[in-house]
Amino acid sequence: MDLTNLLQDARERILAADSERAIEEERVSLLGKKGLVSVQSRSLRDLPKEDRPNAGAEINRVRREIEDLLAQQKKDLDRLNLERELSQKIDVTLPGRRRHQGGLHPITQTLHAIERMFRAAGYSVEVGPEIESDYYNFQALNIPEHHPARDMHDTFYLESGEVLRTHTSPVQVRTMQNQKPPIRIICPGKVFRFDSDRTHTPMFHQVEGLVVDEGISFADLKGTVIDFVHAFFQRDIEVRFRPSYFPFTEPSAEVDILGDAGWSEVMGCGVVHPNVLEMSGIDSSKYSGFAFGFGADRLAALKYGVTDLRQFFENDLRLLRQLA
Ligand code: PHE
Repeated sequence: MDLTNLLQDARERILAADSERAIEEERVSLLGKKGLVSVQSRSLRDLPKEDRPNAGAEINRVRREIEDLLAQQKKDLDRLNLERELSQKIDVTLPGRRRHQGGLHPITQTLHAIERMFRAAGYSVEVGPEIESDYYNFQALNIPEHHPARDMHDTFYLESGEVLRTHTSPVQVRTMQNQKPPIRIICPGKVFRFDSDRTHTPMFHQVEGLVVDEGISFADLKGTVIDFVHAFFQRDIEVRFRPSYFPFTEPSAEVDILGDAGWSEVMGCGVVHPNVLEMSGIDSSKYSGFAFGFGADRLAALKYGVTDLRQFFENDLRLLRQLA
C-alpha cells in the first residue's frame, strides 16, 4: 500500500474512534508489531539498497504523524467527555433523597433523663471501672469472701481474679475514699450478671445513689426515692417499701411500684451500714447515709411498655424508631 493512502486511511479510522478503547485498538492495528506501519518497515528489505534511507525516513514520518493523530484524538475525546459532564443540568424540581437521621438508644435517653433529674436536685455524677477488684465489688461493701450474700450475684470472674462488676455500688466506695461528706452522687453504668431471660440480661445498666451527711435517715431516703419515681414516670405512681436485706445497708428495703400488671420491684436501698462507712474512712459516729440502686433498663421497660428486656439489645430498628 502506498504511504499516502495508508496515512489517509489511518486518519479516517482514528477520527472515527470514539472511545479510549477504540483509540487503543487503532494504535495496535497501525503501530503495533503486526501493524500496517511495521509491515511497511519490513518491506524495506525488498528495495534496492540506495532507495532504503529515503523510504525509511518516509515511514518514520508517517509513524510520527499517526502518533500525533492518536494523541490529538485522545485529547479531543477527553474534552468532549468533560463538556458533556459539565453540561448536565441539575433538575431542582426532582424530589429530594431522604436522609435518615439516627437517634439515641432508649436506654441512653433514659440514663440522660435520670441524670438530669438528680443533677437538678444537687447530685453530681460519678463513674467507675467495669472491671472491678474483689475488694471494691464485695469486701468494701461488707460482703466478706465467704458471705452467703455473694450468691445473690451471678458473678463473671476473670482469670486475674477480678470481676465484671455485678453492681454500681463499688463506685460509692471509691467516692467515699476520695471525697469528704457531704456527699451526694449518682453512679450510672453497665453491670454484668450471668443471667438471661425476659427480665434479665447479662449486661444491664444500674444507677446507684449515695448521700452521706450528718443526720441522714431512712426518712430522707424514702422521700428521695418517691420523688424520683414520680418525676421519672411523670405521674403520682404508687410506691411501696418492703423490708429486705443487703450486707451494705441496714435497714434495707426493696421498692415496688404499682403498674397495670400489679406491683413491680424496681430498686434496692437502705441506710449505709456503719462498717461500709468506716472501711472507706468516714466516721460513722458523726455521719450517716443512704444508698439506692436500680436497673435503668427495667425502669425504661416499665415506662415504655417493653415486656422483654432483651429487646433493648437486639437493636430492631422498629423498636428503636418507635422510642426515638
Ligand atoms: N447494689 C444492689 C444490687 O445490685 C442495689 C442496692 C444499692 C441496694 C444500694 C441497696 C443500696 O442489687
